[in-house]
Amino acid sequence: MNVRKAVVPAAGFGTRFLPVTKAHPKEMLNVVDKPLIHYTVEEILGAGIRKIGVVTSRGKSALEDYFDRSPELEAFLEAKGKLDLLEEMRAIAGLAEFSYIRQPEALGLGHAILMGETFVAGEPFAALTPDDIYDCRPSCTKQLVDCFAERGGTVIVLGRIDAEGTKKYGVIKPKKITDRVFQVLDLAEKPGPERAFSDLGVLGRYVFTPGIFDAIRRTPPDARGEIQITDAIRVLLEREPVYGLVFEGRRYDCGDKWGFLEATVELALKRPEFKDDLNALIDRLRRR
Ligand code: G1P
Repeated sequence: MNVRKAVVPAAGFGTRFLPVTKAHPKEMLNVVDKPLIHYTVEEILGAGIRKIGVVTSRGKSALEDYFDRSPELEAFLEAKGKLDLLEEMRAIAGLAEFSYIRQPEALGLGHAILMGETFVAGEPFAALTPDDIYDCRPSCTKQLVDCFAERGGTVIVLGRIDAEGTKKYGVIKPKKITDRVFQVLDLAEKPGPERAFSDLGVLGRYVFTPGIFDAIRRTPPDARGEIQITDAIRVLLEREPVYGLVFEGRRYDCGDKWGFLEATVELALKRPEFKDDLNALIDRLRRR
């Protein structure tokens, strides 16, 4: 079955990015000139998916406004003759078919994905955390969707991580199938270097069979009272095979202040209108 839907959990507090996230959704943090979630949506569209369910919470209405029409702004731009900008603003509202689902309490990533069950309606679906920007061709989600089509089972994105990464990410116990594809035999959430099965970390992108919802429901909350998606995938493993794909491209962890700065500089360097000035600035700073 084709993957036609994506769930984007966007209900978290963004504690790694306080203080700005105290009064501003982290998904709306700006990288060069677009909010993080716009990059997420472009990645989803790159996989041919147009139905997007965004899981939000209180204080996140800016996300809905961003992907909606804005008649006042459009009238203003039209009156001022700024027709290119007008087109650009209208296009954002027409990018995809958006649904918004509320998560009433911050009960973990697994629980947030469970909120998407009615929207998904028994189909396979992609799930993406907007904290990450994946700069890949084809899009990272497209790479996962292709792997899903080939293997016919849940696929999670993998990347090589260092000892520090084992404290930040889920880690899998792999059985190698090809250079980039692994069968997942087991996995642990943020195990730390001593307990990590491997150096293959789970990096915030998934294509799930609908079986994940039952698995999430059967997953007990962790010590902090949250339902982790990693624990739910372990439950899923009892019934279905799960695969991991090492993605090709570049990933920026923008939920983290340093990753966000890296993304801002590197993605600005890729833009023709900023490239020369930014390179000149970097040279000047280096000579100081
Ligand atoms: C979540 C997942 C973790 C995964 C990470 C990727 O953690 O629980 O398994 O490795 O996303 O970004 P969080 O970053 O929400 O703490």
